[in-house]
Amino acid sequence: MKSLVLVNLFLFFVVTAAGRDFYAILGVKKTATLNEIKKAYRKQAKELHPDKNKDDPDASTKFQDLGAAYEVLSDEDKRKTYDRCGEDCLKKDGMMDNSDPFASFFGDFGFHFGNEGSHSHDTPRGANIVMDLYVTLEELYSGNFVEITRNKPVLKPASGTRKCNCRQEMVTRNLGPGRFQMMQQTVCDECPNVRMVNEERVLEIEVEPGMTNGQETKFVAEGEPHMDGEPGDLIIRIKTVPHSKFERKGDDLYTNVTISLQDALTGFEIDIEHLDGHKVTVTRDKATWPGAKIRKKGEGMPNYENNNLHGTLYVTFDVEFPKQEFTPEEKEDLRRILAQSSNNRIYNGLRGS
Ligand SMILES: *[C@@H]1O[C@H](CO)[C@@H](O)[C@H](O)[C@H]1NC(C)=O
Repeated sequence: MKSLVLVNLFLFFVVTAAGRDFYAILGVKKTATLNEIKKAYRKQAKELHPDKNKDDPDASTKFQDLGAAYEVLSDEDKRKTYDRCGEDCLKKDGMMDNSDPFASFFGDFGFHFGNEGSHSHDTPRGANIVMDLYVTLEELYSGNFVEITRNKPVLKPASGTRKCNCRQEMVTRNLGPGRFQMMQQTVCDECPNVRMVNEERVLEIEVEPGMTNGQETKFVAEGEPHMDGEPGDLIIRIKTVPHSKFERKGDDLYTNVTISLQDALTGFEIDIEHLDGHKVTVTRDKATWPGAKIRKKGEGMPNYENNNLHGTLYVTFDVEFPKQEFTPEEKEDLRRILAQSSNNRIYNGLRGS
């Protein structure tokens, strides 16, 4: 017992002496998956962004800590080294490069908190780019991060100057006493020269649980650049890839299951594998006819606004009839067991339609 306490104390010292606790900063468990780390980072980066916390003198430190925590824990090698011997070890190995992951989650230009659409009217803007992102139903169920590498044209300073902000102006020339000439002239400013350079950018796109087909996420300033103004935005639009087993309508899911005639008559228990691999057990004691539907509340898609709410899963059964020939004795047995009256109905319409 005593030695355990000692070991714990020792570990405590090792961790604190070796630098920041990145797991605590991100608020994730030691066993967190990469997706959980990305999710935690994205959520906290939004809350801790210095632009949003102008009253907090520590805002920028907190934000840097968060960036460092993400940089390390999102990289397999760095995380391993960190787990082994902490932040100092990483620094010794030159593994901390203080990259800023913020832009890859939200786009450039930091954050335009709340002043959506207040782009001034005279500032020209590059075009918005709309990109379809094809995602599976599994990703929409559990959530995922999709990394997109984009070759983005970026404006870089170049030598020399260029004419910019050109406009038409009236100029007046004095031609002598009481005589003026007015004429229109193109007037430009001299701006530092720029050139377009293709830069590789990694964007982390979060597919959030419950997102719907066609839903859009905006990456500020990741669209087309503009020589004399601001770049446009990159808009990512979710497109759902059709699934082989499940169909989605709103937050509800639909699936079809084929059972044997034997199971249909005598009852059964089956497990349906859900989109995240968990099993949904369906039990029936009664007879199940072709086209019968059962509902499983809470086994549909998560709701986008509140991931704890789920839609309903509807399971429709089809019955597979046996193909074998029965002997006359077996047929007699079946008749006796089923004991259905044989006043054959010629045609009674299709069930349910
Ligand atoms: C289930 O079967 C019906 C009828 O054949 C079909 O229209 C529907 O697309 C099927 N659903 C799935 C999820 O396969």
